[in-house]
Amino acid sequence: DKKITIAIDGFSSTGKSTLAKQLARQLGYVYVDTGAMYRAVTLYAMRNGFITEGAFDREGLIESLDNITLRFVYNPELELAEMFLNGENVEKQIRTLEVSKLVSYVAEVHEVRVKLVEQQKHMGDHKGVVMDGRDIGTVVFPDAELKIFMNSAPEVRAQRRFKELTGLGQVVTYDDVYKNVVERDHVDTHRKDSPLVKADDAIEMDNSNISKQEQLDKVLVLAKALI
Ligand code: C5P
Repeated sequence: DKKITIAIDGFSSTGKSTLAKQLARQLGYVYVDTGAMYRAVTLYAMRNGFITEGAFDREGLIESLDNITLRFVYNPELELAEMFLNGENVEKQIRTLEVSKLVSYVAEVHEVRVKLVEQQKHMGDHKGVVMDGRDIGTVVFPDAELKIFMNSAPEVRAQRRFKELTGLGQVVTYDDVYKNVVERDHVDTHRKDSPLVKADDAIEMDNSNISKQEQLDKVLVLAKALI
């Protein structure tokens, strides 16, 4: 079999990671969650006082970028890779609404993107990878054989994220989650460096009204035709 690269981009909470994980499992590919990397840098920036809800010391963060090491470590029990920030498993800490509220501002910083994109490109050196994010089909893997661009109604997405966060035991309101989803989409689509945009050759999928299984089946057909 020929190995391909699959790029999955789209708005927040469209179910990109669910689809990407299932695809990777079915194809025996590696799944890479690039949002986790931006989230981990954001956690680092928060812990070191570079960013709060009111202020952002961009230069401070940029000067510290060399002190940040990100690594995905495979957890065989979960059958998934977890995010490690400077040797610490931060998988839980990066999924909070506090991080979600700040991550899009950190992701606007050019130097942050350069560092993470370089690492992401390396992870695709041998193909056989499913990567999800915002700029995978446009910047990280412009030559990916299969590109999917996902969208769904903001209410559907906020509801999905709300369930996910409360399921993790976090105390959040639906309104806060909704506001965060809309705000992140706005910042992500309007930033100067690598804004969220559908690649010309990406296949658009709106999953407001189709099930996860139907969506997976559709994409599997597309992928298998290329392998
Ligand atoms: O995918 P997730 O929602 O976890 O991503 C969190 C944030 O990280 C996004 O809202 C976006 O600001 C940023 N991001 C990005 N480029 C990527 C992946 C994520 O800018 N490839």
